Amino acid sequence: SGGGEEVHIEKHEWPHAGPFGTYDKAALQRGFQVYKEVCSACHSLKMVAFRELEAFGYNEDELKAIAKDYEVVDGPNDDGEMFTRPGRPSDYFPSPFANEQEARAANGGAYPPDFSVLAKSREHLSLFTPWNSIYGEDYIMGILTGYEEAPEGFHVMDGLHYNRVFAGHQIAMAAPLGDDQVEYADGTPATVEQMAHDVATFMYWASEPKLEARKSLGLRVMGFMIVLTILLYFANKSVWAKLD
Ligand code: HEM
Repeated sequence: SGGGEEVHIEKHEWPHAGPFGTYDKAALQRGFQVYKEVCSACHSLKMVAFRELEAFGYNEDELKAIAKDYEVVDGPNDDGEMFTRPGRPSDYFPSPFANEQEARAANGGAYPPDFSVLAKSREHLSLFTPWNSIYGEDYIMGILTGYEEAPEGFHVMDGLHYNRVFAGHQIAMAAPLGDDQVEYADGTPATVEQMAHDVATFMYWASEPKLEARKSLGLRVMGFMIVLTILLYFANKSVWAKLD
């Protein structure tokens, strides 16, 4: 990519943004459906266990059913062999490829990054290199909705795809979403925009599952500080009262 080139990334409203923000559970459930049915063919999610999806409002039975849908590798057994079995809530998401070499071989040499912290790692990039305008969920949504016809005279290399938002505008990932790519369990119309929004929410949650606990602790700390300030003010006054 050429340095310094301006890429405009559209900003969206995220219910989990801001000091009082909380996750939209319905969006998380839909985003998980998009990840499961589309992205997980290439992208791993190594640091997330099925049981953590409890945060989306699933109960114990639903979590067991979600986990059972996956084949996970276990072992070695008594004969020293690895084997596969249906997943349990305590298992982590299995990866689509055994290792990076296999992943690259299946993707024309490019590596589909793991989703566990991707949303946050992009956000960090913007902290230290703000001129690159790369923002967590907005960036992900930008990539997913940024596939376009290459402008006149722009040469797209073999096996790459023009993307308005991706650095250098050539990305190895083909547009993963098309309208009605998934049929949402809750009946929401599955436009590209909607799916991109939901899966970006899901990926942001994966990167920061404890966001709500962090914010509520922050608010309680602020409340404590205010009360302490008032107490100290009056304590100070009473200690020095005789000198008035
Ligand atoms: C890269 C998201 C589906 C293959 C990426 C990136 C994101 C992303 C955010 C990183 C861009 C960056 O590095 O800045 C998604 C989402 C998907 C999805 C949300 C599902 C909706 C897929 C599928 C495949 C795939 C199905 C394989 C057929 C790749 C590859 C890269 C990539 C190879 C690396 C691109 C490069 O470095 O040029 N994806 N992806 N992705 N994805 Fe996906």
